[in-house]
Amino acid sequence: MNQPVFPQMRMRRLRSLSGLRDMVRENHLRVEDLVYPLFVYHGTNLKREIKSMPGQFQWSLDRLHEIVDQVVSLKIPAVLIFGIPHEKDDTGQIGCHDHGIVQEAVRLIKKRAPQLVVITDLCFCEYTSHGHCGPMVETAHGLDVDNDATLPLLAEQAVSHARAGADVIAPSGMMDGMIAAIRSGLDSAGFTDLPIMSYAAKFASGYYGPFRDAAESAPSFGDRRTYQMDPANAREAMREVALDVAEGADMVMVKPGLAYLDILYRVKSEFKLPTAVYNVSGEYAMIKAAAGNGWIDERRVVMETLLAFKRAGADMILTYHALDAAKWLIEDGTRS
Ligand code: PBG
Ligand code: ZN
Repeated sequence: MNQPVFPQMRMRRLRSLSGLRDMVRENHLRVEDLVYPLFVYHGTNLKREIKSMPGQFQWSLDRLHEIVDQVVSLKIPAVLIFGIPHEKDDTGQIGCHDHGIVQEAVRLIKKRAPQLVVITDLCFCEYTSHGHCGPMVETAHGLDVDNDATLPLLAEQAVSHARAGADVIAPSGMMDGMIAAIRSGLDSAGFTDLPIMSYAAKFASGYYGPFRDAAESAPSFGDRRTYQMDPANAREAMREVALDVAEGADMVMVKPGLAYLDILYRVKSEFKLPTAVYNVSGEYAMIKAAAGNGWIDERRVVMETLLAFKRAGADMILTYHALDAAKWLIEDGTRS
């Protein structure tokens, strides 16, 4: 690069605390970038804090409006819905019911806040008694998820979410062929305009621990390594995303976030699609724990983390910090 050097050039000139520092800022976090994940739980009069996720709650349908109203008043544009049903079985059938927990939550939210974008997480691990992301089958290596048998069930669940009024379907199960199956299921039911946000590069991660408490979706045996990605693999992530794009994904996601910023950067650079990142439960728990002990400045670390996702290429950030971040953005905006 043809750049003058010291002492002609002093990088500090643009870092002074005058307004200039802000003018040369390359990336910005906006409230429009945020998606807030919500856990809807069966039963009534429930606002139960999730132990490993301080400040996050399981909500029953009759109290869901409390959190929806907060999201709306902070102008957060979208929520991601997870549901915990009252009964589970081998195949997670209840996940496809038109009056299932997610379907009812979607109806309720769209009625109360029609402008709020409602994204539904599409998977079976919350609905199966064994906690895996689809029905099981005996294989040479023991019990494993039956990939191909899961596909029509995913299409069925997607159509029920669509009928309830979901704005975006977000399949998170990492089944091969899931995007094509869901797309053709939605299309044949008439939902040709409903977008799919694929959890395209989802790694088998230790960072999902607190979420599995929150969604009661921990596998009762084994783990998800036969269908989620090996954290060592970056080239494979590009192939995963390429397949989902070819099958018709409208938006793609990288998950988890912080430990996978390189994947996020590569996915955005290569595919240039609207790209989401999931700042997952374990990442949230670490910040809350350290901040709770007074070891880090929570506000500063959260904003730095979310900005890092933007710098790496994220268009959307799914984060449990969304409410706090939105409040801080409002404060920052009115301070000057
Ligand atoms: C379900 C699902 C998981 C998360 C989102 N959807 C957990 C998993 O795959 O075990 C994790 C979210 C988080 O940790 O915040 N397929
Ligand atoms: Zn799952």
